[in-house]
Amino acid sequence: MSQIDWDSLGFDAYRTRTVVLSRFQNGQWSPAETTETFSFTLDPFAQVFHYAISCFEGLKAFTQKDGRIVIFRPDENAARMQRTARYLGMPEPPADLFIRMCELCVKNNLEFLPPYGHGASMYLRPLLMGVHPQMQLVPYPEAVLAVMCAPAGSYYGAHLKSSSAVIPGDYDRAAPKGSGSYKVGANYAATFKPYKIAHDQGYTELLYLNSGTREFVDEFGSSNFFGIKGNKYVTPLSDSVLPSITNKSLQQVAADLGMEVEKRPIPVEELAEFDEAGACGTAVVITPMSHIDLKPVLAGEEVACTWRFVPDGSVGPVCTKLYRQITGIQFGELEDVHGWCHEVR
Ligand code: PLP
Ligand code: COI
Repeated sequence: MSQIDWDSLGFDAYRTRTVVLSRFQNGQWSPAETTETFSFTLDPFAQVFHYAISCFEGLKAFTQKDGRIVIFRPDENAARMQRTARYLGMPEPPADLFIRMCELCVKNNLEFLPPYGHGASMYLRPLLMGVHPQMQLVPYPEAVLAVMCAPAGSYYGAHLKSSSAVIPGDYDRAAPKGSGSYKVGANYAATFKPYKIAHDQGYTELLYLNSGTREFVDEFGSSNFFGIKGNKYVTPLSDSVLPSITNKSLQQVAADLGMEVEKRPIPVEELAEFDEAGACGTAVVITPMSHIDLKPVLAGEEVACTWRFVPDGSVGPVCTKLYRQITGIQFGELEDVHGWCHEVR
């Protein structure tokens, strides 16, 4: 393996040593096993290929300041994968199996775990796939849970770097009463085309409104939305956004720092009232937005509205404080008062 430059890691698919696998068949999960070839085989008729019967999770392992290796809140990801599996009619991986497989993935790929001091971590990607060969549109109790990992730096090219987003007037993320709050792969498929158009225009992110009435802020394609108004941390209450574990943690961190936390519908016009706004999630951590544009037609010329938060290139004081606090806990520089860091032994 060539030497990894821990300081210039982005967020990429990475060929590490091992993937950890368990198969659900005949009502049972098989003991977790590791591949040595970084590959596995599925039937071409497997449901996952044809009908997108798949869901995934994203969580991170850190080398802390004192050398301990921890995974951030894996119990939350286990519970969220179970919830998504129920939605898809798939077998739910037990939480202890899920966590054990994440630990095994870290331990069997240790040479890819960034050491402390580079701001980098190991991203863990558990993937649950319907593998039964089948044409009928009915759930089937057979699945593979695969946990893979990649050394990860910053999602957008630099830590805590301000970015811009566009609200696409002609694309929705998920249907009302649809799959928006579940981590199904299909939700992401629908974002590829608008992301390409947005990136070609220089935007980093897509900010979706609630589909249907398009009155309220929902979330970014990759992450949750939060806004800062004076001493308030405000984040959308919506049944079609993913319940982000980072956002849940930041709400607690904000409250710990003496801020008021509001989780409620955010009318799109309220964007004008925020001092700071940003994206939060495992991959993006906290990514502050310098401005957000609303374009009636994403590929068109017209910008119907622009909301500015901080000058391009700068980062507001509250985003900075929240970022330092959450990453401080993850890297073991601040006390983990809520017991969020799960040690890998
Ligand atoms: N929203 C979407 C659409 C996401 O893909 C993610 C990433 O997982 C999040 C929000 C943030 O969730 P979390 O903080 O649990 O990573
Ligand atoms: C994560 O943050 O874990 C995600 O799954 C987001 C994805 C777009 C990389």
